Amino acid sequence: MSARRHTYILPAIVIAFCAITCAPEHKEPVLKDLFSPHFLIGAAIADDVVMNEQGRDAAIVLRHYNTVTAENVMKWASIHPSWETYVFEPADRFVAFGQRHNMVIIGHTLVWHNQTDNAAFVDAQGKLLSRDAMLARLKEHITTVVGRYKGKVKGWDVVNEALTDEGPLRASLWVQTIGEDFIAKAFEFAHEADPDAELYYNDFSLDKPAKRDAVVQLVKDLQARGLRVDGVGIQGHWGMDYPTTENLEAFLTAIGALGVKVLVTEMDVDILPPAWDYQGADINARVELREELNPYPDGLPDTMQTVLANRYAELFSILVKHSRIVDRVTLWGVTDSTSWLNDWPVRGRTSYPLLFDREYKAKPAFQAVVNTARAGR
Ligand code: XIL
Repeated sequence: MSARRHTYILPAIVIAFCAITCAPEHKEPVLKDLFSPHFLIGAAIADDVVMNEQGRDAAIVLRHYNTVTAENVMKWASIHPSWETYVFEPADRFVAFGQRHNMVIIGHTLVWHNQTDNAAFVDAQGKLLSRDAMLARLKEHITTVVGRYKGKVKGWDVVNEALTDEGPLRASLWVQTIGEDFIAKAFEFAHEADPDAELYYNDFSLDKPAKRDAVVQLVKDLQARGLRVDGVGIQGHWGMDYPTTENLEAFLTAIGALGVKVLVTEMDVDILPPAWDYQGADINARVELREELNPYPDGLPDTMQTVLANRYAELFSILVKHSRIVDRVTLWGVTDSTSWLNDWPVRGRTSYPLLFDREYKAKPAFQAVVNTARAGR
């Protein structure tokens, strides 16, 4: 072979080899394999990810995660936008995607005070429905949605965010129409619609002692009524200094003592300056954009990448340590560019809360998480 041919063939071989092995999707270890001794690991996915199955977001999801949650398409306002109308296509697509790839499919969420049209609670004259009429609507909604995905969705966030941070129930339209047992009723209807589905209560800030005690009481109440309840989802919209290790461990232990599982259902870690001193995830809360609230519009400096990685390591180490109780960890999104935290609580920030960056590359936080899985074996 002439020297000249060598000069073409060698680089071509190197490029071809690299295309197979050096693509970002192929470089890093696979999260679902590393975490298989500990818990399921997954992501919430938007309809765009499902629609673009050959895309780079889907490639990350399919490589790393063994469970998917619907980010929006199963919420009441999406799937049941007016009393007479159901819109199933996006949710059907989401479920089919999960099934095609043998993933554990999680339904989010049946009953919530947000992303539910107020029209759901009133009659044709705009008057708040009676308890019986609202119970009938609740049952119809749950029976239709859970029934449609029976045997396909493994677990449902039956009720989302019913508790206040102080412990008592929110004065939501659910309480105003049905009364405080709307939670028990939702669990009852969901179980009737799919007796094999796992049923969860989901909320944020459950590590806070008053809210933790309230959720413990709530689960005990459901259990005392003889209802199926499989777990408590702690959303996990976490920051650099909350939850504290002490509070998170106390929450995990308290739920474990009830004989049900903990699911971390919506994990992301916010490294941007806090917009306020509130630490929850109430989607109605809004703060105006100010320059000091958006300090890294052009990229996260290495020092801050390390800070974020250390925080992820701290949180995941606790979850791995308690993996007898923790059944699943789901990240709320795939890459930083599409995280809801770019627009909440401040619209238009550049946020960095997930394990993959805007170029679809694994961040130092990813490696930190990998290390916790290995250390925990
Ligand atoms: C968020 C979605 O990520 C956004 O796309 C949507 O605009 C608002 O809701 N707690 C929850 C999730 O239970 O359903 C929320 O998801 C984030 C806070």
